[in-house]
Amino acid sequence: MADQFDLTIIGSGPGGYVCAIRAAQLGLKVAVVEKWPTLGGTCLNIGCIPSKALLHASELFEEAGHGFKALGIDIPAPQLNLPQMMHHKADTVASNVGGVDYLFKKNKITVFRGIGSIPAAGKVLVTPQSGPQQEIATKNIVIATGSVSANLPGIAIDEKTVVTSTGALTLDKVPGKLLVIGAGVIGLELGSVWARLGAKVTVVEYLDRILPGMDSEVARQFQRMLQKQGMEFKLSSKVAGIDKLENGALQVRVEPAKGGDIELLDADVALVAIGRRPFTDGLGLDIAGVAMDERGRVRVDGHYKSSVDGIYAIGDVIAGPMLAHKAEDEGIAVAEILSGQAGHVNYSAIPSVVYTNPEVASVGKTEDELKADGVNYKIGKFPFTANGRAKAMLATQGFVKILADVETDRVLGAHIVGKNAGEMIHELVTLMEFSGASEDLARTTHAHPTLSEAIREAALALGDGAIHI
Ligand code: FAD
Ligand code: NAI
Repeated sequence: MADQFDLTIIGSGPGGYVCAIRAAQLGLKVAVVEKWPTLGGTCLNIGCIPSKALLHASELFEEAGHGFKALGIDIPAPQLNLPQMMHHKADTVASNVGGVDYLFKKNKITVFRGIGSIPAAGKVLVTPQSGPQQEIATKNIVIATGSVSANLPGIAIDEKTVVTSTGALTLDKVPGKLLVIGAGVIGLELGSVWARLGAKVTVVEYLDRILPGMDSEVARQFQRMLQKQGMEFKLSSKVAGIDKLENGALQVRVEPAKGGDIELLDADVALVAIGRRPFTDGLGLDIAGVAMDERGRVRVDGHYKSSVDGIYAIGDVIAGPMLAHKAEDEGIAVAEILSGQAGHVNYSAIPSVVYTNPEVASVGKTEDELKADGVNYKIGKFPFTANGRAKAMLATQGFVKILADVETDRVLGAHIVGKNAGEMIHELVTLMEFSGASEDLARTTHAHPTLSEAIREAALALGDGAIHI
């Protein structure tokens, strides 16, 4: 029998690898089982990291082509070197997944390569691609197997012309026409990448709005900004099917969400971005007796424990937003709980960012939620058109919107559309972590000239008034 581990984690994404490192730091003997050749999961290999590499590179390409002239920089039209851009993406991924290897060695975490399954509590079976199975004896198990792209019935994904995010991150040429199914985070981020590189992008969305879950005023204004960038939206519409023509092109059948006449749209590539589903295939959870919820997620209690003692779950495979930082924080919390500490995640202060240009960042309640909950709220807003630094940067699109309780002035939610919104949101996250009031923010000195001054101005607008508007 092999060594006994204190903790075995199945899956090395942001949930699994962060959990492993914290557990090792807290003195546990830790094993991680990963079926992919590299560590880091969806986020580092085919998600957050490669998409941000392409978003950054394509944003600079777009800026060099259209934004430099007004700043007094005359250059010839930039030429796209897509293979080099893809090298940049691959190098970024390699250096990030290599970083996890290094951290695992540093923290003496044992990696088992292969598909992990759970025959019973206290045991993990590892089935490698070749060679014999290994059995790990372990006190506790954390399931961190993440999620995979959801698909539409009757649509065959080939990752070449009909793609998920994975294929959309590796196209070898810019499609003339890209049809995106789903106006969520993946559709808008990867749609932006290819639109900036020259594709004509049409987004088909089932609902009557983009970015469901985000503040609806933010989503409306953001949609206008994307339309100005050339993206087209077909809201309240669904894709009924995709036909491949003899010349390799696609013909997409789109119909109104409520039913009605079908419209045919041509496309070179179709990106299916209608959400992700929790992934538990091959784990044998039914045999171990682990209960699932109605959406195929592992059901856990407030301490991330499943219905079986000694088996826990975190990240995309349990309920909650499918975000890397949510998975990471659950990883830390469960490692602390298993070490006898009081691990905890504050779900009311988890930021969410769409890394487009401008970016959209939000934390806490949306105005729609406060209305629905009958909360007596007030709104402080400030546009970047009135911010000195934004003018100097030619980045005046967007605004800051802060929502606070009328009686207590406590900040309940905040939403930013604008350049660097994803970096700026964190002062609001910190404020909310400390149950801060808008007056706390309004009385905090902000360096001038910075984009962050717009946040303070929005907070001032909740009191005696913003200064610069
Ligand atoms: P995952 O990262 O999915 O990792 C699960 C791991 O488990 C994988 O390595 C898998 O191989 C392994 N595994 C599964 N089953 C087994 C098994 N039986 N045995 C062994 N190994 C197994 N989130 C953000 O917060 N910010 C972003 O910018 C962002 N961008 C994204 C962009 C894209 C294109 C996509 C697809 C997602 C993005 N996400 C982003 C979401 C983010 O990637 C996920 O929320 C995050 O990866 C979830 O982490 P996880 O640890 O739960 O699972
Ligand atoms: P999503 O849930 O964000 O958006 C899916 C969209 O598709 C929704 O607007 C939905 O209404 C629409 N839709 C569903 N069925 C449809 C149909 N049949 N026809 C047309 N539209 C349909 O999911 P997405 O974009 O696939 O992303 C998956 C997950 O990955 C998200 O939960 C997100 O949290 C995470 N992610 C996070 C990122 C970030 O934090 N920046 C970046 C990318 C992904």
